[in-house]
Amino acid sequence: MDKNIIKTFNLLKNSYSPYSKFRVACSIIMKDNTFIKGVNVENKSYGLTICAERNAMTSLISQGYNYKDIDYVIIVSDTIDSIIPCGACLQFLNEFINNNTIIITVGKNKKIMKYKFNELLPITF
Ligand code: THU
Repeated sequence: MDKNIIKTFNLLKNSYSPYSKFRVACSIIMKDNTFIKGVNVENKSYGLTICAERNAMTSLISQGYNYKDIDYVIIVSDTIDSIIPCGACLQFLNEFINNNTIIITVGKNKKIMKYKFNELLPITF
């Protein structure tokens, strides 16, 4: 498996998800292979939870990386099947990534799914 997928699985341990017990990790891989990390962070006030994808993207921007240098995105979860980003995260990612950016999703079954961003969000605001 791609080294960056393994690194993303290792990130799952950082997930703060005591309420759902649903761990998600997202990495954004830059063209120079820089690895940007995000995990889901929950809150007692459930609605304040922030998904792994949005945490990865806000981290990228906060650290001063140029979103135009994004190569691809990996999302892993400790569910059997992989998950795709929620609607809110797709809208959030849409601000920064291209229609053709590859989104890789992997679950515990280790089946590597690959989507183009615009397959997941074909028509955007
Ligand atoms: N979650 C993510 O981090 N990313 C997704 O794409 C879907 C859902 C998180 C939010 C919450 O902490 C948990 O998964 C259950 O919904």
